[in-house]
Amino acid sequence: MGAGFDVGAQGRCREILRPGGGRSSVGLEFAYRPSWKGISVTSSDSFATPGEPPSEIDTSVPHSARIWNYWLGGKDNYPIDQLIGNQVRDTYPDIVFAAQASRHYLARAVRYLAGEAGIRQFLDVGTGLPTADNTHEIAQRQAPECRIAYVDNDPLVLVHANALLTSTPEGACAYIEADLKDPDTILSAAAGTLDLSRPVALILNGIMGHVADTAEAHGIVRRLLDGLPSGSYLSLSDGTDTSEASVQAHDEYNESGAVPYNLRSPEEIAGFFDGLELVEPGVVPFTGWRPDPDPFGSQQEIDGYAGVGRKP
Ligand SMILES: C[S@@+](CC[C@H](N)C(=O)[O-])C[C@H]1O[C@@H](n2cnc3c(N)ncnc32)[C@H](O)[C@@H]1O
Repeated sequence: MGAGFDVGAQGRCREILRPGGGRSSVGLEFAYRPSWKGISVTSSDSFATPGEPPSEIDTSVPHSARIWNYWLGGKDNYPIDQLIGNQVRDTYPDIVFAAQASRHYLARAVRYLAGEAGIRQFLDVGTGLPTADNTHEIAQRQAPECRIAYVDNDPLVLVHANALLTSTPEGACAYIEADLKDPDTILSAAAGTLDLSRPVALILNGIMGHVADTAEAHGIVRRLLDGLPSGSYLSLSDGTDTSEASVQAHDEYNESGAVPYNLRSPEEIAGFFDGLELVEPGVVPFTGWRPDPDPFGSQQEIDGYAGVGRKP
């Protein structure tokens, strides 16, 4: 692994916001010998590395954004991420398809929101590492004036944030370093880029599983939506406990030292949309949400559900 996306593209860098103030310092130290369940990554193992990581990035512990990037074919991941990514994939080979299908869902949802729904503002929390088609690129292809605030708490995402800030001149992009569990900070920082008196699409793609307790997770989404006006939308997708292999693979992932990821039932995913008007076809496996025409008529089963809802 190693070939992947070039995240070095420079664009119009609007701003990187750290609600606590300040900017990240980037040092150069690289010393790790990751291991998991007695399997060590040694200097003779052939894992790809993206180069010397900044000192604030811990490459001895696997990380969600970097493992996700590995499954998506990106290069911004380290041997420990590749080790755990391979272990999970061995137990659950469909994880790679699921990661890709989740990104494809995101693209269709953003296309719908900026197109048919006429949304011009996006708040994308749990952005992940920049990849082939980021939210602002999809939205601004529909309407160049779209404004996007990205939010993540991973220092590596911050390092690559310039690739998320290549806004059209008519629109705007900002990156906010903040925690999902602090919705008030997210909303007040987002207000620097978005007009929160006008509709916003809240994007939560593959992040809510990082909140273990379902009631707490539902509460965070409600608090974020409370800060957005009528006519705003929620687009949410997440992994589900709908197959044994998926559950077993996530159990293994959760033992790896990475911040745990919790699968939910389709009904619990649907609960995020309580009080919203669901857009057709509702909360469904994410390959089935307004799929693009498939000349082969194939649609693989998937352990992940997604939906789009409108705040009345
Ligand atoms: C599985 S990745 C999904 C990335 C992207 N949304 C996508 O669909 O490709 C989860 C992302 O959520 C971020 N994340 C995890 N916990 C978070 C938290 N408490 N606050 C903010 N971001 C978080 C991770 O850093 C990672 O970038």
